[in-house]
Amino acid sequence: MTIRKILHYPDKRLRVRAEPVQDFGPSFQQLIEDMAETMYAAEGVGLAAPQIGVPLRVFVVDTAREDEPSEFRVFANPQILEAIGEVRWEEGCLSFPGIREEIERAECVRVSAMDRNGKPFELWAEGLLAIAIQHELDHLNGTLIIDRVGPIRRRLIHREMMKALEAERASSSRSPELGLRR
Ligand code: NI
Repeated sequence: MTIRKILHYPDKRLRVRAEPVQDFGPSFQQLIEDMAETMYAAEGVGLAAPQIGVPLRVFVVDTAREDEPSEFRVFANPQILEAIGEVRWEEGCLSFPGIREEIERAECVRVSAMDRNGKPFELWAEGLLAIAIQHELDHLNGTLIIDRVGPIRRRLIHREMMKALEAERASSSRSPELGLRR
């Protein structure tokens, strides 16, 4: 298992519309293991494949609290069949470190998807699981939390993320070989 690098906004790979999973073979199983490892290492509730640069329609979630047994789930080729109610929930995203935003979502969703072996299933979700499913499904369509807030918050988040990116670039360019630059 490998912890993969999580892409941060404004990486363009987060904007790709991901392709359906067709092959549930060994390399897909490896991907799922890596996604689990990466999500737990980052202490996230969910992770979508495009967030590690893999343009496939699959995400993993585990909405169990720390004191509860883990509830690791894989959703491949997910679809929301029904959505009921409205709820505002403060969400974070591993691709927007440090940002938390109140976002409006459906309260309950009925979802169909395939498990890690390609076996279809259907479930009704509510609470945090319903939110996580909607958030991660957005990632598969290249939609991010910044697209779900008003224009003022959008500009603010954009500015904060660009600042973080510049800081990251500045610190990585402080490598010793740059001392040789004329
Ligand atoms: Ni996210």
